[in-house]
Amino acid sequence: MLTRSIPQKSSTAGMFMKLVSNFIKPQCGVGSCSFFTSRPASYLQTACEVAFDTERNVDEYADVDWDKLGFRLMETDYMYIMKCCQDDEFSHGQLNRYGNIELSPSAGVLNYAQGLFEGLKAYRKVNGNGFLIFRPEENARRMQIGSDRMCMPSPSVDQFVHAVKQTVLANKRWIPPPGKGSLYVRPLLMGSGPILGLAPASEYTFLVYAAPVGNYFKEGLEPINLVIQDESYRATPGGTGAVKTIANYSPVLKAQMQAKKKGFTDVLFLDAVDNKYLEEASSCNIFIRKNNVISTPMARGTILEGITRGSIIEIARDFGYEVDERLVSVEDLTEADEVFCTGTAVVVAPVNSITYKGQRYKYNCGEDAVSRKLYKSLTDIQMGIAEDKKGWTVEID
Ligand code: COI
Repeated sequence: MLTRSIPQKSSTAGMFMKLVSNFIKPQCGVGSCSFFTSRPASYLQTACEVAFDTERNVDEYADVDWDKLGFRLMETDYMYIMKCCQDDEFSHGQLNRYGNIELSPSAGVLNYAQGLFEGLKAYRKVNGNGFLIFRPEENARRMQIGSDRMCMPSPSVDQFVHAVKQTVLANKRWIPPPGKGSLYVRPLLMGSGPILGLAPASEYTFLVYAAPVGNYFKEGLEPINLVIQDESYRATPGGTGAVKTIANYSPVLKAQMQAKKKGFTDVLFLDAVDNKYLEEASSCNIFIRKNNVISTPMARGTILEGITRGSIIEIARDFGYEVDERLVSVEDLTEADEVFCTGTAVVVAPVNSITYKGQRYKYNCGEDAVSRKLYKSLTDIQMGIAEDKKGWTVEID
């Protein structure tokens, strides 16, 4: 248990005053800023405990069976919260104990899905002390693009990266040992102010929490089996498929559940206009390889431009493969040598088979598969095993 009483130290006292001034900062109008106005003095004490704990107690590992990590929520110690009003800018946030947040029943995010999320990972460095966060600025930029689409103010890139670093450091005892997994960091941006008629919310909350994770699919690192869904669509032109809005994810659940019932790992979606071009799986991007050419669906507003997708495109080109971002049709699947998925949670997952209209297509996912080479190259950079010549990782300790 990390909780301690408030220490009598000058540095902490300074921090205390800063937290108090944050606490009394005017919010966005009567009834609109539920979180701070509903927190009594005990909330201040919690904030002080954060200051103390982050100085003192986080060096040892949390009590976790690191060999049994999957992609499940494990509650960690702290989360970061920053709020601002509509038409205003985010200015300062702070760490809080991890826990439930209070929202008005009429919060924009609950009623109209005015919300975005991000996902990124922090790794414990293999060679020495410290931690590596993978490309957090990219997530920050993507959140900015998404916030524009969803009519929300967004944290600046610096604010986003600062919040991520704070969250990782405050939860560092939850970062798995090298080779056992990573700390998955989940930034959220939501309309937290109340609204009844359809309109942007009056107040916004940026929140970052984190959880230790292992492999995303239950198959672990084993190849996965996909099924093509051609009756429901993930995104439509002009919609929100290209941004990481929370509203893109629950609509895929039905197809995903049906696929899982039939023994498939995940669903692969087609485009909603021609019903023949690959888009993405429910939680990751897709690539195919034929000889020396790797292709992936082009970004035309209906797929998420994954940060892992972009990184893999670069790494594959460095290896000498030709990488095409183009329309990839279901017919291309019949000819492909290899197929794989990419995503922050998924990393690089080799695909064993894809089933389409009852026909099963099988792919190479043996030791010589290119996806294995790409996976190793990417994770070596992420874990600090290979030199990061691209400046992708942010080191903290
Ligand atoms: C990620 O890969 O970080 C995602 O956001 C996918 C999510 C559905 C787990």
